[in-house]
Amino acid sequence: MSAGMYFSVRRRADLARYHLITIAIAVLLSPAVSAQSADPMVTVEMRQQGFKDMGAAFKGVRDQFRRSRPVMVMIREYSRPLLRYSREPVIENWFPQGTGPGEGIETEALPVIWERPDEFAARWEDYILAAENLQSAVVSGDLEATRERVREMGDTCSGCHDTFREEED
Ligand code: HEC
Repeated sequence: MSAGMYFSVRRRADLARYHLITIAIAVLLSPAVSAQSADPMVTVEMRQQGFKDMGAAFKGVRDQFRRSRPVMVMIREYSRPLLRYSREPVIENWFPQGTGPGEGIETEALPVIWERPDEFAARWEDYILAAENLQSAVVSGDLEATRERVREMGDTCSGCHDTFREEED
């Protein structure tokens, strides 16, 4: 085999490997697939990241109401992820079977999620409704209505956490 041929074969092999890696990453990033990932911690970390994001967004919204003059534009910006997450198939993608507490899994999700799935799904439905109501209030520009909707949304977070998330120390 000539040197030239050798290199072109090598290059093609490298290219093939590169494509495989790209496909692997794309597959990993796809929520539907990572939900069924062999490693449950991939899913657990994804949902914890999502909840952290929701927590930061909700704090941003609430902080506005601690100011003497809440700024509606800021409330609108911070509330965006809250609406976006409400449109995700969170139950399916974030809480597949086998991602509860167990060997090698660090999670605050309680086993009762998978024992009472209908109740858990109902708490998520409460959240979806709260996110839609908050969105309507924000769009209307009514600050007092928005304040009330934010309070209601807070109740849906704790309404789920009280039963389905391990209590923090
Ligand atoms: C339907 C149930 C449900 C609703 C509604 C819900 N959560 Fe959670 N949340 C959970 C569960 C379960 C966990 C634990 C996830 C884990 O550790 O795997 C969690 C974890 C969290 C965490 C910790 C993430 C981390 O690992 O650091 C934050 C922050 C959080 N939620 C904020 C919120 C906020 C803010 C809302 C409302 C705007 C909300 N959640 C609504 C179920 C819910």
